[in-house]
Amino acid sequence: MEPYVLEWLNLLGRWFHLIAGVAWIGSSFYFVWLDAHLHAPRDREEGTRLDLAGEVWSVHGGGFYRAQKFRVAPPELPEPLHWFKWEAYSTWMSGMFMLVLIYWLGAGVYLVDPAVAALAPGTAVAIAAAFLVGGWLVYDALCRSRLGDNEPVLAAILFVLCSLAAWGLCQLFSGRGAFIHFGAMLGTIMAANVFFVIIPGQKALVRAKQEGRAPDPIHGLRGKQRSVHNTYFTLPVLFTMISNHYAVLTQHRFAWLALVGIALAGATIRLYLVLRHRGQSKPLLLAVGIASLAGTFVLAMPRPAPTQAGAAVPTFAEVRAVVEQRCAGCHAAQPTYPGFASPPKNVVLDSADAIVRQAQTIHQQTVVTKAMPIGNLTQITEAERAVIDGWYRAGAKP
Ligand code: HEC
Repeated sequence: MEPYVLEWLNLLGRWFHLIAGVAWIGSSFYFVWLDAHLHAPRDREEGTRLDLAGEVWSVHGGGFYRAQKFRVAPPELPEPLHWFKWEAYSTWMSGMFMLVLIYWLGAGVYLVDPAVAALAPGTAVAIAAAFLVGGWLVYDALCRSRLGDNEPVLAAILFVLCSLAAWGLCQLFSGRGAFIHFGAMLGTIMAANVFFVIIPGQKALVRAKQEGRAPDPIHGLRGKQRSVHNTYFTLPVLFTMISNHYAVLTQHRFAWLALVGIALAGATIRLYLVLRHRGQSKPLLLAVGIASLAGTFVLAMPRPAPTQAGAAVPTFAEVRAVVEQRCAGCHAAQPTYPGFASPPKNVVLDSADAIVRQAQTIHQQTVVTKAMPIGNLTQITEAERAVIDGWYRAGAKP
């Protein structure tokens, strides 16, 4: 497809995905907050008559609101009844659209890194798709099994399986491809929880109500379990959505461990906040989250390459030759590398002046994080990276 059209699909898809995701996570955070702040109804008599679990008064945008939660269902089904599901479905669909557009159609650039695993793009995409489906099947089977009744055991198993997934993805895909597929796997589980468990459970409650039967409480319990899991997945998923900006982590030798560290921090910090809403203070959880972040910070800290004493400082001509050969195919006003309509991120490296001016980001991307050349498509060598490093350390002179 015309790269310019692809760029617009990317823009519109990303914008929509962001909006849908804000709506989904926003409403999900709101309902978690609401549930945690319910108190006994002020009007005792009304509370008993309606069989209320509790209520919350709030003020927002110049108006007072009173939300009431029923123990199971109200005596009469109200019309209209609002369902919260399109936030989840549209977030997932737009997320898949972006994943396919960038990482699957562009698998050769974004998903495959020959230095990690020399997969054919088609094979990589097949593995990625199997991963998303497999993640859901394994998770769903675990929740439905007897292990699913014991939340702490289930949480421990899920943590180990997610760590294995992070490790496996990092053995197969480029760093950024691995991180985004980890997030897509969790996001798929979250949306599937809504589609296959939470909404069907709510429908069963409504049906029982309409037929005058007592609703089976299993639907409520199962839906609650899944929506609690969704809450703990939100922060890790949000991190993976922005992770491609942080090549210090995605390109690290222990990228999978960094991913596990941040995911653990996100889940424990979210758990801490949810419990705090309920008036329970568990500082240990917060400490685990912060320690996990601190551990990741230390793990990913760049180690300065040993400088070779007495080695000659590379000349600018050498640096320029490397950049011309390994970077300028993409980073030129008119890229020659197939599939690029414009220089990525508007980074242009086609003149001596441009190279000197951007010495710091060139060094950062090529030596510190090794994010560039992307997927090492132009096969830069370690010796060439060392040329850029030596030149930069000696003051990046023209
Ligand atoms: C095959 C094409 C290709 C080659 C070759 C390539 N890059 Fe890039 N570069 C990209 C893409 C794509 C991005 C945008 C990545 C993203 O979306 O995060 C990028 C982004 C960048 C950025 C901006 C990073 C940021 O996050 O702001 C810099 C700086 C950069 N490249 C430098 C280089 C250097 C230096 C080389 C050569 C050593 C190089 N690139 C080789 C495709 C390429």
